[in-house]
Parts: sequence; C-alpha cells; structure tokens
Amino acid sequence: MMGMGKRVNVEDYRRLAAKTLPRIIFDYLEGGAEDEKGLAHNRDVFDRWRFTPHRLVDVSQRTLSTSLFGRRWSAPFAIAPTGFNSALWPEGDIKLARAAASASIPFILSTASNASIEEVARCVDGEKWFQLYVVQQDLAEQLVMRALNAGYTTLIVTVDVGVNGNRERDRRNRFSLPLKFTPSLMMSGCLHPSWTLRFLQNGMPQLANFASAESSSLEAQAAVMSRQMDASFNPHSLRRIREMWPHRLLVKGIIRPEDAELCVACGADGVVLSNHGGRQLDGNLAPIETLADVAGRIDRPVLIDSGFRRGSDIVKALCLGADMVLLGRATLYGLAAGGQQGVDEVISLLKKEIDCTLAQIGCPAVTELSAAYIHQQS
Ligand code: GLV
Repeated sequence: MMGMGKRVNVEDYRRLAAKTLPRIIFDYLEGGAEDEKGLAHNRDVFDRWRFTPHRLVDVSQRTLSTSLFGRRWSAPFAIAPTGFNSALWPEGDIKLARAAASASIPFILSTASNASIEEVARCVDGEKWFQLYVVQQDLAEQLVMRALNAGYTTLIVTVDVGVNGNRERDRRNRFSLPLKFTPSLMMSGCLHPSWTLRFLQNGMPQLANFASAESSSLEAQAAVMSRQMDASFNPHSLRRIREMWPHRLLVKGIIRPEDAELCVACGADGVVLSNHGGRQLDGNLAPIETLADVAGRIDRPVLIDSGFRRGSDIVKALCLGADMVLLGRATLYGLAAGGQQGVDEVISLLKKEIDCTLAQIGCPAVTELSAAYIHQQS
C-alpha cells in the first residue's frame, strides 16, 4: 500500500484512512454522538493516570501474552465488533478476522457484519466470537442458534443501543444503508479513486446475516443499520439468551458497577465496559473511569473499549484491572488504509508500544501489571 511504510502510530493510519475514504464513510467511522465531547473525553481521560516507573527491575525479557477464557493470546487486546466493515475495504470482516487469527488475538464478528456468521466460520481459522444485537427476540434467537451451529465459542450481547445515538455527521450526510450512489457520494468517490475502484469491483456490501428475500429481513436490516434495537431489553431477556447459549456469554456496553453485578447474577461470564466509542450518549462517563470499581466488584473477566489508540492506553487499563482491551477504530483505520496488511501493521505497532511501555515502567509481563504502576492525578 502506497506510503504505509511511513506510518508510525495509529494516528498516522487515521490520517491515511481520512484521505482514502469518501467523507461520508469516514464520518460514519469517525463520528460520535451530538457535540462529540464524549468522543474527545474518551481520549483525554487517559491523561488522568500517569505511570510510576519501577527501576532496578530486570526487564530484559518481556511478554505480552495473556490467558483469557482458557487459552493463551499473544497480546492483551482483541478486535472489537464493528458493523459495515466492507464499506472500508472489500471483505472487511474476513480481513480483520484473518489479521486477528494470524496475530493470535480474538476477533469479534458484529451482527451488522457484511460477511455472514457462517462465511466467517468457513473462511477463517481461529476461535470465533459473535456480537449480538437484539433487534427482536425471535431474530436474536435465530442468530444465537446460527452462531452455535457454526462453532462460535463466545457470545457478546450489546446492551447500549436501545435507541440509536444521535450522530449528527451521519444525519447531515444522509448516511443510510444500503449505501446509495447519490451525487455527493459519486463526487466524493471521484476524489477517492482507489476506494471507489475497490468498491465498484466488489459491489454494494449487504448485511449478510439478514440477507434473504423476506420483507421481515429487510425490516431487520434497516433496524440493525439504524441501531434501533429492542428498547425493552431487561434482565429477563438476558436470562433467556443465557438459557439458549451453552458457551461463554459476555455483556457489552456496561458503565455502572451495579450493572456488571446484575449481568453476573443473570449468568454472564464477564462484561465489556464500553460507551460504544462515544457513538451513543455524548455525556457518558468513559468506561475506564469505572473500571477499577467494576473489576473489584465482580470475579469475572472485565474487558473494555472506547478511546484506545496507544499501547500505553492499553497498559493503563490493565493496571486498573482490565483483562483485555477491544479495539474498534484503531484497527479499522488500518483496514481502511491498506486492507489486511494495514490491520496487521496496526496490531504489530500496538504490540511494540505495549512492549516499550512495559520496559519503561519496569514490568516484565502484562499479567503482572497492577495499580502499583500508575498514579491517578487529582
Ligand atoms: C455500530 O454499532 C455503530 O456504532 O456504528
């Protein structure tokens, strides 16, 4: 990919993604809710914690590898579930999943994927995790059964999208799916010829998990794309999913420690703290602000996302009690900039940043990180 060799951090890939994608697609990827203060807060909040390096520690050998859910991963981060990845690069889901499998980190397929549950299972080795949006209970049950039959081991139920976030960039751009070749997209396409060529060669991405001729499926597609989920979802609904799913179940979109406890009481095997990358509620706390409290209250794994762009951000979350960090935009910038190669590069640069941070703070292994390595600014 032209110029990719010069990229040294995630921000460089972000800039390349901004150049490569038509504005309407980049805005969908980048945008947050309303004034996007939550989006900025998700980044700024990391400055509240600063490292307290330990010296005279032998850090000549360092390891990033970690265990979670009974297996070893090469690094303490995973690729988060994100919708409509093929708008960034053809076969986006498969490219992300392959990059994750080859790096030995988890990949989570979104309900709003462009490759179906079955296709990803067929095309990619490695453990399979599926994220579930509950649009309607019966549709959710069908998706759960499909994931089970296709060999997925982990189900992540997202619970922060009872209604769609007020994303003004998308409203202004009239971003809707399936994408329409409006004059403004065509104009933008001329300014981004490499994206346009790839897009035209590969055709309009569909929400493959819902692709069927039935009108109920079209309604479901529209609901998923506008993130119009079942707003009545409650502990009883979660317990019903728990009863159907025999493997690991995580709940994503949690901020409050009490809610994490409730999820565990409903049978969850862990939670993903998240404010949906600032895309749902603008005035939200960042999940890292409640992380230590949540990790202290439940005896199950705590995963986290929203705002992670640096290896040092990931290290801070591990110090505060996270078991793993999910990356949404960071790896998508790589995908948009250069397909699987771009994702591979982002994964490897984040591994290097984590490794360098470990050495700098005097900690030889990510599994040994603790609050002893950071200080919270007052
Ligand atoms: C999908 O979940 C999105 O945030 O766009």
